[in-house]
Amino acid sequence: MNLLELNNVSHVYGDIVKSKGLDNLSLTTQKGEFVAIMGPSGSGKSTLLNIISGILPATSGSVIVAGRNIANLNDEEAALFRRNTLGFVFQDFNLVETLTVRENIMLPLMFKNEGIKSMKEKSEKVAKSLGILHILNKRTQEISGGQAQRTAIARAIVHQPELLLADEPTGNLDSANSEEVMKIFENLNRNYGMSTFLVTHDVETATYSQRVIFIKDGKIYNEIRKGNNLIEYRENILNVLSVIRGV
Ligand SMILES: Nc1ncnc2c1ncn2[C@@H]1O[C@H](COP(=O)(O)OP(=O)(O)OP(=O)(O)O)[C@@H](O)[C@H]1O
Ligand SMILES: [Mg+2]
Repeated sequence: MNLLELNNVSHVYGDIVKSKGLDNLSLTTQKGEFVAIMGPSGSGKSTLLNIISGILPATSGSVIVAGRNIANLNDEEAALFRRNTLGFVFQDFNLVETLTVRENIMLPLMFKNEGIKSMKEKSEKVAKSLGILHILNKRTQEISGGQAQRTAIARAIVHQPELLLADEPTGNLDSANSEEVMKIFENLNRNYGMSTFLVTHDVETATYSQRVIFIKDGKIYNEIRKGNNLIEYRENILNVLSVIRGV
C-alpha cells in the first residue's frame, strides 16, 4: 500500500519575488518504507517535508498521505491529522524549555486528551527504550544534546505515528550519538513498521534507509535502493552526491 503519493507537486514561495521550493515533483512511498532525502542546501528538502505534513500548501499538484488528500482537510482536520498520523523530529530539537523531559514527551498525548495514567505509562515506556528514563524529571536546560535529541524522538513517537518525518535529526550530534539515534530509527522501522522519511546531509545516516531520493532545484534528481550490499549502497550514495555537487 502506498503511504505517500505526490503528483506533480510545486511550491512557490513569495508573492512578488517568487522562488520555487518544489518544481513538479512526483514520488510515491510504500507503507513501512524508510526513505532518506538528500540534496544540496536550498534544493527543497525541508519544503518537501512541510508539504507532506500540510504545514505548507502545494501551489499545484496533489499530496495524498495515508489515503487522505491533505488539501481537502479543513484547519481542524489538518491539525488532528498531524497529531494522530505524523511524528516530527527537527534538527534543533524544538523542546519546550519551561517543561520537563516527561512533559515534553507527553505533549502529543495531551493534545489527544489521554488520561494521566496512560500518558505516564506510555511516556515511561518510550523513555525506557531510548535510555532516558532517569532524566524524565529534568528540565530541558539540564540535559545534554544527545539526551535532548532522544527526548525529541520520544515525543515524536509516543503516540505511535504512521509516519515519522525527520529533518536533519542527527545534524547537531557527534558521530557516536548519531549512530545511536539512527539505530533507534532503524529499530522502530523494523519492529513497529513505522514509515520514516528522513532528510540528511550525512552519508552514514543515509545508509540506514532502504532508499535514497536525491533532490536538486526542487526536482527529483535520482534515486538509489539498498540492495544486499551496504558498502555498495554507501558508495552509490557518495557517487550521486559528488555528481550533484559537481565535484
Ligand atoms: N520561507 C521562505 N521564503 C522564501 N523562499 C524560501 C523560504 N523557505 C525556503 N525558501 C527557498 O526555497 C528553496 C528550498 O528551500 P528548502 O528550505 O526547502 O531547502 P533545503 O533543501 O531544506 O535546504 P537546507 O539543506 O539548507 O536545509 C530555497 O531556494 C530557499 O531559498
Ligand atoms: Mg532544510
